[in-house]
Amino acid sequence: MTEDLADRLSETELRIRDSQAWQYAQRYAAGNTPWFTQVQFRLLKRLLSVERSDVVLDLGCGPGRLTLLLAPLCRRIIAVDRSAASLEVLRRGIEDRKLQNVVLTKADITMPFHLEEKVTKTLSVEVIQHIPGVERRRRALENARKLTVDDGACVFLNLAHGLGPILTGMRQDNLQPDGLYYHMYGGRDLRADLFAAGFKRVRTTGCGVLSWVGYERAPMLLPLLDPWISRVPGVKVAAKFIVAVAT
Ligand SMILES: C[S@@+](CC[C@H](N)C(=O)[O-])C[C@H]1O[C@@H](n2cnc3c(N)ncnc32)[C@H](O)[C@@H]1O
Repeated sequence: MTEDLADRLSETELRIRDSQAWQYAQRYAAGNTPWFTQVQFRLLKRLLSVERSDVVLDLGCGPGRLTLLLAPLCRRIIAVDRSAASLEVLRRGIEDRKLQNVVLTKADITMPFHLEEKVTKTLSVEVIQHIPGVERRRRALENARKLTVDDGACVFLNLAHGLGPILTGMRQDNLQPDGLYYHMYGGRDLRADLFAAGFKRVRTTGCGVLSWVGYERAPMLLPLLDPWISRVPGVKVAAKFIVAVAT
């Protein structure tokens, strides 16, 4: 991908984020069902083993869909995004919930940026997939590694180029000029990017296997079952999202 094209796709993404920040939660629930945030939250909590003493980095936090759920579980959560409008929505959410331990930082995560302290754990959910160009994606992953203490887990959750998209002929990259850019990750290119970013150990799993079934069929059961299914080896080929735990 040329730098010019990557710049244009990146500008479009930022414009969409800023203009839709106040509708983000509603749109997310409409596109992924109202249960899916809890499915992701349960899985992330387990994979990160969040503890009271943790300082957590939410890289590409958006309006704080997961930041606000994780904040009560840890000492501090540092929420980073480049969309000013998204951070404003999050600031309002923090105020409403009277949270004292969320630090907001505006930064482009593909560029070097500084935090006052190293974090003990990092999550980045549906963010790296929207960064156009492999070099920029790797720079963002490298930032995550450098900002996290040695051996602190970094969890990256992104759209999967698994069986569903492959069988329906979906392209791995959406390059529509006025659309939202995304790159769907397969296991191989995800690992390659993580190792190129300096991570030493990577394990992958899936999230959202039952999203194809529809959680509304058994809303008391399926959202609880889904994070458990992630333990089944090989499940990521059928999942909507691929999740990497990297150190
Ligand atoms: C799909 S939203 C995900 C938000 C949140 N993590 C969630 O799961 O609800 C993607 C977020 O990544 C942010 N983002 C994309 N590229 C970025 C970059 N280069 N630097 C900082 N934030 C970026 C966008 O502003 C947007 O808020």
